[in-house]
Amino acid sequence: MKALVLSGGEGTRLRPFTYSMAKQLVPVANKPVLVHCLENLRNIGVKETGIVVGGHGAQIEEAIGDGSRFGMRITYLRQEAPLGLAHCVTLAAEFLGDDEFVMYLGDNILAEGIADAAAEFRRRRPAAQLLVTKVADPRQYGVAEVDADGVVRALVEKPTEPRGDLAVIGAYFFTSAVHEATRAIRPSARGELEITDALQYLIEGGWAVTAQEYDGYWKDTGKIDDLLECNRVLLERLGTDGAGTADPMAAGEIDATTVVEGRVVVEPGARVTGSHLTGPVVIGAGSVVRDCRIGPNVAVGRDCVLESAGIENSIVLEGASITDVPELSGCVIGRWARVSAQDGGSHNRLIIGDHTQAEVPV
Ligand code: G1P
Repeated sequence: MKALVLSGGEGTRLRPFTYSMAKQLVPVANKPVLVHCLENLRNIGVKETGIVVGGHGAQIEEAIGDGSRFGMRITYLRQEAPLGLAHCVTLAAEFLGDDEFVMYLGDNILAEGIADAAAEFRRRRPAAQLLVTKVADPRQYGVAEVDADGVVRALVEKPTEPRGDLAVIGAYFFTSAVHEATRAIRPSARGELEITDALQYLIEGGWAVTAQEYDGYWKDTGKIDDLLECNRVLLERLGTDGAGTADPMAAGEIDATTVVEGRVVVEPGARVTGSHLTGPVVIGAGSVVRDCRIGPNVAVGRDCVLESAGIENSIVLEGASITDVPELSGCVIGRWARVSAQDGGSHNRLIIGDHTQAEVPV
């Protein structure tokens, strides 16, 4: 089975980070979302993956490479404009040939992997198989009407009046039948070739389209709060053997005056002194942490410097520094950003970029 990973979206809801980086490269528990995805594909034995990229394509290619570290070969396919998920299938038609494939949205986290779904697709052999999950507000998603046998009766993209609460999530299994559908459909009202329309075309043409309910943790990381939630959930699983047993991985240095509680990973070359770490926490390679209170639920990227800082429930990206700021919570701090106290000052001084969000106490 091949894989088609869609990483062309612009990520406007993740600004300002997506001005300079692909949303699929934003780290969750210190690993880019796209790496979580490729690991799931490796785990079902995928050897050939096409990644559809847009404006940040070169950066994705640099970060992910030729795929050898995931045991697969990766081909990059350029999408000039975000014209829809089904459009991605049409531009990958030559790469996919007549093979079966799994289409995976590169900004989706499926924390328990997709092995069960792949096995079900191989066993049942429908033309297409979706993964669905119950959501509180189905209007934001593709919504599937599924009968008791797991057969999809209808699909609607972002319905204003949803019939049911089963949202389509980001891993779709297809046979080559989908190519006829993606060629036949026309752009939707939002000007995109919708994969839901292609699936609906298959249903109306009498093809078997099935759905399996995903019982693991799933999140579309398109928004900041979802990203933070995802970070927390994946950090909770950090350094475990999958059965929830703690396997402390302290490859970096932690001095004797530092107190460590819960699951804490200090990556190689990182140094922690005089601090209090409350897991789950990960400190990235080469980072320096001095006299801080960190955690719970904090991922600090590589080469950061944190001094006399206090932070919980946050993501700190590569190269950022935080100095003398005691009570940070729910933050995402961008690459090489600096957060510090003002010497002798009495005001909040903010130098922040376009579409940045800052909240200060009143
Ligand atoms: C896309 C699909 C939608 C699906 C969702 C899952 O929506 O069009 O059917 O439910 O991904 O994340 P988008 O993220 O493009 O709004």
